Amino acid sequence: MIEQTLSIVKPDAVRKHVIGEILRRFEANGLRITAAKMLHLSPEAAARFYVVHKDKGFFGSLTKFMSSGPILVSVLEGENAIAKNREIMGATDPAKAAAGTIRRDFGTDVEQNAVHGSDAPDTARWEISFFFGQLETHPG
Ligand code: CMP
Repeated sequence: MIEQTLSIVKPDAVRKHVIGEILRRFEANGLRITAAKMLHLSPEAAARFYVVHKDKGFFGSLTKFMSSGPILVSVLEGENAIAKNREIMGATDPAKAAAGTIRRDFGTDVEQNAVHGSDAPDTARWEISFFFGQLETHPG
């Protein structure tokens, strides 16, 4: 099934100058980039995006990190895009991520893990609409 998913190149990966390499891996694995932009979240906006984690102990640190510098948000489209993106990213903890995955290659720890990807169709729809209006996406 053709799906869309939201991807974020996080501030740590932007600081490492690996935006191009990360987007290359998506395209090399058959995912199309149908929307993209760079922005710098305020701590409040980061808190709105990660509201599902608001009761977790790491919430404050996560929103501080996610607002610490620019991010690159994009929409990836393709066959089973949600699962495929998660495979390309690797496990949340870079130390546990498989060899050749983005998080293994560019992540630092369980928080500064280079990329975010939606985990299910419902969250993908919500996350895409959080960042992109209809005129900013180019499906197909
Ligand atoms: P992400 O896929 O963006 O979804 C939630 C984020 O919270 C996750 O990647 C990490 O950046 C962060 N995160 C998850 N678990 C922890 C943890 N135990 N400590 C700190 N940050 C975490």
